[in-house]
Amino acid sequence: MGSRLLQIFKLPIPSLIVVSLCLTLQSCSENKKQESDYQWPIIKGFPKPQVPQNNPMTVAKVSLGKVIFFDKSLSANEQQACASCHHQAFAFGEDIPQSIGSTQQKHRRNAPALVNIAYNKTLTWAHDGLMSIEQQILLPMFGEFPVELGITGHEEEVLARFKTLKYQTLFAEAFPQQKVSFDLIVKALASYVRSLISLSAPFDRYAYLGKDDAISVSALRGMNLFFSEKLECHHCHGGFNFTQSTSHEKQLIDRRPFHNTGLYNVNFAEDNKASGYPKHDTGLAEISTLVKDDGRFRAPTLRNIEVSAPYMHDGSIGSLSEVIDFYGAGGRNITEGDFQGDGRNNPLKSKFIKGFTLTGEEKEDLINFLKTLTDCNFLSDPQHVISE
Ligand code: HEC
Ligand code: HEC
Repeated sequence: MGSRLLQIFKLPIPSLIVVSLCLTLQSCSENKKQESDYQWPIIKGFPKPQVPQNNPMTVAKVSLGKVIFFDKSLSANEQQACASCHHQAFAFGEDIPQSIGSTQQKHRRNAPALVNIAYNKTLTWAHDGLMSIEQQILLPMFGEFPVELGITGHEEEVLARFKTLKYQTLFAEAFPQQKVSFDLIVKALASYVRSLISLSAPFDRYAYLGKDDAISVSALRGMNLFFSEKLECHHCHGGFNFTQSTSHEKQLIDRRPFHNTGLYNVNFAEDNKASGYPKHDTGLAEISTLVKDDGRFRAPTLRNIEVSAPYMHDGSIGSLSEVIDFYGAGGRNITEGDFQGDGRNNPLKSKFIKGFTLTGEEKEDLINFLKTLTDCNFLSDPQHVISE
């Protein structure tokens, strides 16, 4: 390659253009070749996720990204890795209501499960403009409010930790002839996150592989409730990924829905007038600055939901049973404390959150259905983690 480059500089200008064009084409086909070495672990006939052109999937990038994801060297004080907040056993979410960063600063939100993120139309709990994983990853790395990995101000020191012999080999495999940089770290991390695909739950065996006995009779009844007009769950958690916020190669319509589910309707003491979600997190309104977007959040996937408690953007609901009670009540009435107020009457609440009554058995059926979305293989697959 080096000698070929030298040759180029000796050529007259027109042939230089031709040669560099060929080189570009050649590197494209090299990218293609590398990409085809990555197999999406998806059921035959399922649409593939879309991947940015400048970061095609390769086995080598996924492997490098995985090593970085579990490496505490990525935080300035070496106290935290991505994996410190995203644990495989909890579907790469966490079991505390809100995250705590490397310097012990508290995040206002719950770390979402990282399940089929490659299919997500938008990223984070409430942002309609954040559409690439590469962009999103910059937040935990460089964000200062709150500090998560805290790299800002420590860039050189952190980058130097990725120039060890071990990393040099991994980087050379993933990105031949490129210098270790944060850009490459982000690309590798994004490839690893994209590889976290979960599509082999009992529900998938039932729905897509024709195994009628893969889920229980109770779960079947629960499934019918989930998809009924009485409960309306499917309106927001629909499709193969159990969220409306899905994009893939066959879905060209741009859909980025966000909903107010009536979790809050805070009474502010001064005038005792209810005016919505707590000021420290108003959801989409913070991004759009529109009052009508107050309290609107993205409906997350429900795959592996059994293991990713506590729930909601702020981890404020502890169990699936309580989540169902919340929807049954048509919102949440908080009767004391800072966030007192009746979310059921939130004027911006979605019309699909209208409340319903279930018998004890029906509620159990619905929970049993949600549990058929648990993909045990995904939660324990050694391929997704670093062996100690
Ligand atoms: C301090 C805990 C913490 C650390 C460390 C952390 N995350 Fe997160 N992660 C979160 C929280 C909290 C959110 C939700 C942010 C929001 O909605 O504003 C999130 C969101 C995400 C999302 C978006 C998921 C979705 O469904 O849209 C991805 C992807 C992600 N993190 C990957 C990473 C990667 C890669 C790293 C390492 C570079 C990392 N995270 C480090 C807590 C953490
Ligand atoms: C109007 C759209 C809508 C409907 C209808 C709806 N959801 Fe949701 N769901 C959401 C949104 C939005 C969130 C996140 C809300 C938040 O964090 O503020 C959510 C969150 C959840 C969560 C927690 C997810 C997590 O990762 O923390 C569960 C579980 C859930 N919904 C189950 C259901 C069930 C079961 C039904 C039917 C009874 C249902 N949802 C109906 C929009 C909806």
